[in-house]
Amino acid sequence: MEAHKQLTIGMFGFGVVGEGLYKVLQQTSSLRAEIKRVCIKNPEKKRNAPPELFTTERDELLNDAEINVIVEVIDDADAAFQIVSRALTSGKSVVSASKKMIAEHLPALLQLQQQTGASLLYESAACASIPVIRNLEEYYDNDLLHSIKAIVNGSTNFILTKMFEDKLDFPQALMLAQQLGFAESNPALDVEGWDAVNKWTFLLTHAYGIVDHPTHLVFNGIQNIQAGDAAVAREKHYEIKLVAQAIKLRNGKVASYVLPQFVKHDDHLAFVKNEYNGVVIESGFADKQFFYGKGAGSFPTASAVLSDLSALRYGYKYEYKKLYHHRPHELTSDFYVRVYLSFNNWKYIPREKFEWIEEWHADEERKYLIGVLPFLELKNESWWKQNGTSLILTPDPVIEEIDTRKLKMRSLELAGSFDTGI
Ligand code: HSE
Repeated sequence: MEAHKQLTIGMFGFGVVGEGLYKVLQQTSSLRAEIKRVCIKNPEKKRNAPPELFTTERDELLNDAEINVIVEVIDDADAAFQIVSRALTSGKSVVSASKKMIAEHLPALLQLQQQTGASLLYESAACASIPVIRNLEEYYDNDLLHSIKAIVNGSTNFILTKMFEDKLDFPQALMLAQQLGFAESNPALDVEGWDAVNKWTFLLTHAYGIVDHPTHLVFNGIQNIQAGDAAVAREKHYEIKLVAQAIKLRNGKVASYVLPQFVKHDDHLAFVKNEYNGVVIESGFADKQFFYGKGAGSFPTASAVLSDLSALRYGYKYEYKKLYHHRPHELTSDFYVRVYLSFNNWKYIPREKFEWIEEWHADEERKYLIGVLPFLELKNESWWKQNGTSLILTPDPVIEEIDTRKLKMRSLELAGSFDTGI
């Protein structure tokens, strides 16, 4: 492991995170880290730093032998991957905040780290100020990590809080999230759940050794949530949150998804408001632990980059212990989930796909039901995200096995009332 005595940094990007780091480093001289050069895309834009710091030439950073650390905080995932690959290949350490790039290129990045032995750290890429990656990597033994449940996107949590507590409408809440520097430059990435599932992809690697592409995970954002859903949540004393969850089932496989979920008032995640993120970990012996902190914004994100830089001083690398040192876990779709669905018309809802439906409200213009679906249905089909249908998981939604005898009786009982109920 190469420890760096002096960190000479070449930084790519000077947006919300880059500028935040620049300011933070000016106040942390004990770190002995200096930004030598910053590569930007748009030289016309006014920057709050001396002009001689900036260049538009990648090679000025990547070919500079004195620069031993590349900090990559740009928006373009493909360009970020090229920069990070070149930096690692030339033996430089890399600190990145590009969650999309990491999620989409994880297998290649794992290989590059193994081939080059260079360190790639990205604590800021998930949950910003919360040190979740290093904790998962170092603290929790593979067999003892029962579940992890988290709010990993600050913007959607901010929007949900502003809409349902401060009564702003969706466009106002989103605009505020953009003005405060929480949202992605393409905010659809936040709103439709892409940012959350990207972060979840590599959190699953550090938690369970699972390496998969984000598009293979079941996910959605908050785009379909309606005022009526919030009213039902209030009636039932729930909050609505965008929750990423992984649960180790009795067969040792992992159930995982990123979906809106009803959260009980006494759940730790109900406490997480605005741009804050939260992570609840359940593990053997330790029981429940709750991590809480700002999940977006300039300084909270820069603080995690700073912590990675400081870890490079003693030669820290991710060992991907759950992947390389233990037997990695497998994802499974072989379980059931209890869901709430609100919709405009029964014709959009394939009722035959449900194991059972335990509550339905068919009279109102906006109808809703609560029922149990095989998770495979969410994985293979997309009707539950279309035609204005809103799916929200219920609290503790995972059902591992269904007693089919009881189920048959139940569906017979329900069949009659259900037919007359709509
Ligand atoms: N858009 C991201 C969020 C920024 O809102 O969480 C932090 O990754």
